[in-house]
Amino acid sequence: MAQFVLSSLRGNLTNNATKISFKTTLLRPLLLNNNFSTTSPNNGIQNITVYGSGLMGAGIVQVAAQNGFKVTMVDIEQKFIDNGKKIIDKSLSRVAKKQFKDDERSQKSFIESTWSNIKTEINSEKGAENADLIVEAIVENLETKQNLFKKLDNIAKPNTIFASNTSSLPISEISKVTKRQDKFAGLHFFNPVPQMKLVEIIKNDQTSEDTYQNLIDATKRMQKTPVTCKDTPGFIVNRLLVPYLMEAIRLAERGDATVEDIDTAMKLGAGMPMGPFELSDFVGLDTLKSIVDGWRRDGKVDANLVSPIEKLDNLVKEGKLGRKSGVGFYNY
Ligand code: 3HC
Repeated sequence: MAQFVLSSLRGNLTNNATKISFKTTLLRPLLLNNNFSTTSPNNGIQNITVYGSGLMGAGIVQVAAQNGFKVTMVDIEQKFIDNGKKIIDKSLSRVAKKQFKDDERSQKSFIESTWSNIKTEINSEKGAENADLIVEAIVENLETKQNLFKKLDNIAKPNTIFASNTSSLPISEISKVTKRQDKFAGLHFFNPVPQMKLVEIIKNDQTSEDTYQNLIDATKRMQKTPVTCKDTPGFIVNRLLVPYLMEAIRLAERGDATVEDIDTAMKLGAGMPMGPFELSDFVGLDTLKSIVDGWRRDGKVDANLVSPIEKLDNLVKEGKLGRKSGVGFYNY
């Protein structure tokens, strides 16, 4: 299966084809040219190709385009691309309304200029041709990711930087199938991408300083705050967040407190924007389970932190995956 499908965070939205054209951006006219010409990452990243048009992929496309990069969104079928465009459309009008309040003309021009920086592609080879940076945000499966990067390694320019948005797989394992491990790193965004300010940059032993600096520069141009982490399970955020979410589920499973009270407690007592159950539903229970299962298999994280939880396993088995499926710990 040539599936480099969208990330498991993909929503269930459908077709709303938005017309896309390439015009000069209003946002960074000096930085960018009009024709996706071949450029060197040494002169700064300009053309970005994102593989995967689910929630994460579409979010990355949006923030890059909003900030003046020329972006190609690639997925294997038009219906997935249409879904990604719908995600961007919705989020973009939210951002425009926030940034330009009652100024409808500026909102419109912001939205148009962002779309003018986006093109879409269902031919994966073609999508890679002019990229200075490729960001992969497809399904969390090592073999699928390796297959994609192996293929792209033969097509992309020699100095194209490869990055994976994986939340749980080792960057060194994904990158080892390519001949450009020095130009390979993790670039981990957070959901919802347009709102969350953080990007984790994962450097492994082989990632060159030039690659790293280019990624720092690109994330700052996307108005994100980069932090750096070694190639360790869960990097920074998920290494701390996932055991916390699991512990919350164990607390409820033991009957120590209700789901609702645990959420209320963490919001009002610890200042979290969402309680652990709301957040688990938001991240996706299948995503949560797959992270924990992977860590357990690899044996690199304390076994107690990742011991299986019947309640979580059952919800996933029943297809109750959280917000995206309409049911999880809560009904939506
Ligand atoms: N696009 C653009 N903006 C968005 C947005 C989107 N899709 N979703 C939310 N926003 C913005 C809103 O415009 C609003 O902006 P403002 O405060 O400047 O006006 C702000 O976010 C708050 O939105 P709302 O008022 O609609 O709703 P909430 O106050 O309930 O906030 C939330 C929603 C931003 C999701 C907030 O609950 C939150 O921050 N939750 C925690 C999210 C989190 O922890 N994410 C990380 C998950 S872990 C992960 O992604 C890693 C992966 O590997 C598993």
